[in-house]
Amino acid sequence: MPKPKRKRRNPQPSEPEADESLCLPQTAPLQIRYYGDPVLRKRAQPIQEIDDAERQLAEEMLMTLYSTGNGIGLAATQVGILKRFIVIDIGEEDDEDYEPLLLFNPEILSTEGEVVVEEGCLSMPNITADVKRPEKVIVAALNPRNEKIHIEADGLLARVLQHEIDHLNGVLFIDRIGSLKRQFLISDLKKLQQAERPF
Ligand code: NI
Repeated sequence: MPKPKRKRRNPQPSEPEADESLCLPQTAPLQIRYYGDPVLRKRAQPIQEIDDAERQLAEEMLMTLYSTGNGIGLAATQVGILKRFIVIDIGEEDDEDYEPLLLFNPEILSTEGEVVVEEGCLSMPNITADVKRPEKVIVAALNPRNEKIHIEADGLLARVLQHEIDHLNGVLFIDRIGSLKRQFLISDLKKLQQAERPF
């Protein structure tokens, strides 16, 4: 999911915030899959055990997220890998202690409330829509050290968690808007579907 435009505090375009220390020398960004690619509609499989291959995937996904320049969340499905894994970085530039979330087998345990927020998707450039979702979520997942963690989230983090977990189930945000609203997006979606990739 890209950073919501109206939350951007910094008006001038900034360079991708890649943290070199997180990236192994052989790590290169992966190719993001775009709307129309059938892989985006497939269900990702749970990861049995997190080993070096999974940790390498985590590094590559994080690098791919940062390479977008405005990404705050990415699901493995979006790079054509059908494993239940997501990366999220909504960190503020001035918070040095912030660490990105690397979540294996993330699962929503409970939700609360309801809120409408504008969403976009790195797999659907330049398409946004207001989407109604629960306001708060509790998510269980495994971290790269195979430890079970619980995340209680609201605000932007709750939104990104739900958006990325949807990707693991082949669900896109446009599936969660009314059919009338979707009608307005149809010509843009068709253009995306027919676009030559990569740009
Ligand atoms: Ni997305």
